[in-house]
Amino acid sequence: MYTINVIDTIGDVHVLEFKKFEYRNLMELLVNRLYDEIGDCKGRGLCGTCHIRVHSSHTSMQFFEGLEHNILKNQLEYYPNSRLACQILLDEHVDTMQIEIIGGD
Ligand code: FES
Repeated sequence: MYTINVIDTIGDVHVLEFKKFEYRNLMELLVNRLYDEIGDCKGRGLCGTCHIRVHSSHTSMQFFEGLEHNILKNQLEYYPNSRLACQILLDEHVDTMQIEIIGGD
């Protein structure tokens, strides 16, 4: 069992437990456990509503060049640690990560 620390869109902090590949990606975990209204495009990497910031991670969270970067740079708020949650697999690399849900504009 792994854990992730999440600040939701109203600033509440949650510690979520998950099993490897329990959901297809991090966005689906956030939607199913926190009911935050993100993920409009169902994880196709097109809508930007699953925008998160990665505040701490034990692995390097490099940008995927191309589509993810293009979607994020068009967001009103865009940070060096911005990512799309739907593009992050739910595996050991996410364990103990601290993230903040930004959502779409
Ligand atoms: S769910 Fe649409 S970009 Fe991630």
